[in-house]
Amino acid sequence: MTKSYSQGRMPQYPKAYWLDSVSIPSFPSLTEDVDVDVAIVGGGITGITSAYLLSQKGVKVGLIESGRLLNGTTGSTTAKVTAQHGLIYDELITTLGEEKAKLYYESNKQAMDFVKSVVKEQQIDCELQEEDAYIYTQSADYIQQLTNEINAYEKLGIPGEFVSSTPLPFPVNGAVIMKNQAQFHPLKYLIYFINKITENGGLIFEQTPAVDITTGPRAQVIAKNGNKLSCNHMIIATHFPFEDKLGFFFARMHADRSYVLAVKTKQEFPGGMYINAEQPTRSLRYTMINGEKLVLFGGDHHKTGQGIDTFKHYEALEAFADSTFGIEKIPYRWSAQDLTTSDKVPYIGKMTDQYNHIFLATGYRKWGMTNGTVAALMLSDMILGKETPYEELYRPYRFHADPDLKQLVTDNLDVAKHLIKGKLELVKRQPEDLANDEGAVVSVNGKRAGAYRDEQGNLHIVDTTCTHMGCELEWNNGDRSWDCPCHGSRFSVDGDVLEGPAEYPLQKLD
Ligand SMILES: Cc1cc2nc3c(=O)[nH]c(=O)nc-3n(C[C@H](O)[C@H](O)[C@H](O)COP(=O)(O)OP(=O)(O)OC[C@H]3O[C@@H](n4cnc5c(N)ncnc54)[C@H](O)[C@@H]3O)c2cc1C
Ligand code: FES
Repeated sequence: MTKSYSQGRMPQYPKAYWLDSVSIPSFPSLTEDVDVDVAIVGGGITGITSAYLLSQKGVKVGLIESGRLLNGTTGSTTAKVTAQHGLIYDELITTLGEEKAKLYYESNKQAMDFVKSVVKEQQIDCELQEEDAYIYTQSADYIQQLTNEINAYEKLGIPGEFVSSTPLPFPVNGAVIMKNQAQFHPLKYLIYFINKITENGGLIFEQTPAVDITTGPRAQVIAKNGNKLSCNHMIIATHFPFEDKLGFFFARMHADRSYVLAVKTKQEFPGGMYINAEQPTRSLRYTMINGEKLVLFGGDHHKTGQGIDTFKHYEALEAFADSTFGIEKIPYRWSAQDLTTSDKVPYIGKMTDQYNHIFLATGYRKWGMTNGTVAALMLSDMILGKETPYEELYRPYRFHADPDLKQLVTDNLDVAKHLIKGKLELVKRQPEDLANDEGAVVSVNGKRAGAYRDEQGNLHIVDTTCTHMGCELEWNNGDRSWDCPCHGSRFSVDGDVLEGPAEYPLQKLD
């Protein structure tokens, strides 16, 4: 039976299952100036895998993370490790051509093979399991798209098959399979790398937000507390780069949130990893939690800070889980966000053509288990002076008239709309109107503000003007946060930065 969260307050669930089930080693913050060969900013799959690969080659790495390692998107993923990234290959052939579409597949297949081989060779206990990946549809309208996708597989030499049924307990109109893909516990896998980085003499600093860089031959990452990490090469793996360096990345990517429920189902999950072709997105895989098989139902995505009441997304996923497998209990639920570039291909490589030693990796479109690994493999090769066949495909400063230009116009009109809309909004609610554990946009002295009344009845009021570029924030009642509809920055009820690109907290109001 599904329940309606919006009829009451949604309970605060534990954090994402992966984060709740392991102990991540902790590290001090950067309290003095330090010299390394390669500075890496961002402690997710990209930063940690890059630091591991380079430190294995004897390179002295220094990794800095604004919060705790692995607490970004990597800690809240669904961790399918696959080169099947939804319906993508037919589109890539159309927009970028066959050669680049093939390189996209090959790089992601190579990344998946790297994960499988390192787990096997190093005997990493991370629940890695081979599974077939399916894109299915329950709509006759999408059969043509699945047919185009399987034709694209054939053109590109991707092993795959079109089938009319799947092991799922509900009927589908058709599906495309990519066999022998994988799933794992992402944090158990990456904790092995963290331990190796330190064994190899690498330095890791947590609670150290980076706010600026210098770009001389000995480049520097400058932390918010003024301390510097000097380096010959730098990798920025923080989603939006905290320093844009005229790459216009804010105009060329958007942040998108998705929701996940970990469900003990009434009906047994048959194995396999699934995603549908149509909207709203429905993604399924299983994982073992405390000896029980739980199904991870993911999807219901929307641009960060936009869309309907966030409770509704959990309700929609819950209704889907209930109607397909039946729900016994839901021990975990969480949401997270990732960035999408205007041509759907990540930005990996030199940040701009001006600098040969400053690299960027972002824009994985929610497929970062392989794309983040592609980035680490590519960037470590580039830094070690090796050629990579993928440099041109992923080059961050590429630009195509189609589809980049269309998407650029759409995304930036959207930013402009939210910039203006929030300022013109007539707000009627007052902080006094809020019940306990409720947040809303309110009017304080005639100005738009954000208020949250906690469980104890205390009010937390902030200025809702985003400290990044001034858009007006919206309340996210699922996560109790203030989210920006323009580039996806998120702030706590007291205004602290939860996710960038914003670097500075919101102004608190009395
Ligand atoms: C709901 C959901 C499900 C997903 N499922 C899958 C899946 O099944 N398979 C798949 O392949 N991919 C999946 N993805 C995508 C994948 O999880 C991400 O692409 C990947 O984790 C991104 O890794 P990252 O290293 O780029 O970012 P993160 O893991 O977010 O790491 C970036 C780090 O940078 C830090 N940082 C930010 N700014 C600064 C700063 N100024 N200074 C210092 N540090 C900073 C952050 O605190 C963060 O820890 C999913 C994504 C979502 C949202
Ligand atoms: S994140 Fe850019 S304006 Fe808020």
